[in-house]
Amino acid sequence: MQSLPGFRDFLPEDCARRNYIFGRWREVARRYGFVEWDGPLLEGTDLYRKKSGVEIVDQLFNFTDKGDREVSMRPELTPTLARVVAAHERGFKKPLKWFSIGQFFRYEKQQRGRLREHYQLNCDIIGEGDFAADIELIALCIDILRAFGLTEKDFVVRISDREFWTDFLHQQKVPTERWEEVLQIIDKSGRETREKTEERLGKLAGSVFSIFDKGGRSGKLDRLVDGLGARGLAGFVDVDVKIVRGLAYYTGTVFEVFDRAGKLRAIAGGGRYDNLIGQLSDGAVSMPALGFAMGDVVLGELLHEISSTREKLQTTIKEQNKIDIYAVIAKEQRRGDALEQIQELRDRGYRVDYPLTVDKVAKQFQTAENLGARMAILYGDEWPRLKVKNLATREESLIPGDTLLDSIRKFFTVSGSP
Ligand code: HAM
Repeated sequence: MQSLPGFRDFLPEDCARRNYIFGRWREVARRYGFVEWDGPLLEGTDLYRKKSGVEIVDQLFNFTDKGDREVSMRPELTPTLARVVAAHERGFKKPLKWFSIGQFFRYEKQQRGRLREHYQLNCDIIGEGDFAADIELIALCIDILRAFGLTEKDFVVRISDREFWTDFLHQQKVPTERWEEVLQIIDKSGRETREKTEERLGKLAGSVFSIFDKGGRSGKLDRLVDGLGARGLAGFVDVDVKIVRGLAYYTGTVFEVFDRAGKLRAIAGGGRYDNLIGQLSDGAVSMPALGFAMGDVVLGELLHEISSTREKLQTTIKEQNKIDIYAVIAKEQRRGDALEQIQELRDRGYRVDYPLTVDKVAKQFQTAENLGARMAILYGDEWPRLKVKNLATREESLIPGDTLLDSIRKFFTVSGSP
């Protein structure tokens, strides 16, 4: 029996890596004053049909449930967020700054950086139309990646503006029904040959390519870069009007994050979607919004490729997995006394392990080392005294059994709290 293509098993070390990523995501989002929320894994398929755009609808994991409802595993969070905000916004002060960490499902062709399930961090600001929110959100995205030890040499945020292109389409008198299609061609242009893009753009090709070649700038994009520059983050961003994003609901600023070496797929992407909440609530609630999502798959690949970030991850995981104390049971008659004290130590928050069955003392010490324990307590002939060993320095001392808690407290205060 094998797992389905594009679905991962998470062995303990994969879980540790995942928790490392989630930990940094959560920590930096909170540093920016974001609060955590979540939505359901399953939604009515119509939510995505109406709101996400063709590409995602083709990739839905959908089925009809036993109540004859058309449902889908969530491919992204933004339509759910818009639905939830439209229903509950009255209970909250604006702007809302919400983040969420969860699993998403897309029936994509499995390839490097793209699976059929992945985790995303979503960060969204709702109810703030001012440009300050665009700058704040991009700064947050950069700072999250910096928390992993990544620098401006490792990744770049490519920023753009959908309004730049909708103004252009307006000037070119392209009918609005065709805008979405043209935007999708521009979005894909980076991954397709120039000839193919040219053919698909038809009459528009000349002017679009001339914008590509000149670089394309706007006052708004300059202000965005200046705002980030004022925070010392200008080195992390490039203006790139080729970015328009594949999802249908974006209305203004859009951005995507890539590795500088250009080897991997996008690490994160997002932008402004000022009309989505209004559309979903049929105009009942209209609120500007913007956000981004960062996936765990490409980020994990990038952290693994760069030696400094790989080492930081490995050291953190190793430290986290260590136990504090190993109870060596040298005499079986002492097992009951040992368990009583182990229970007490665990109640006080120490990470304690011991052999579940009879084992040689030398092997028990080996296990203590393997588990990264800093201290071993030996329950043997010395009882009611205990031999306590500092496993780093190999120093040993003999203490009365009833002073164990005191000795342990002192030991961990001196050598760093567990
Ligand atoms: P997205 O660009 O579709 O945006 O996805 C965001 C990130 O999720 C991508 O940059 C990528 O790292 C990761 N990702 C997407 N699909 C896969 C996959 N099949 N396998 C592995 N990783 C994947 C959104 O989902 C928007 N809802 C983001 C957003 C939030 N916009 C506003 N708020």
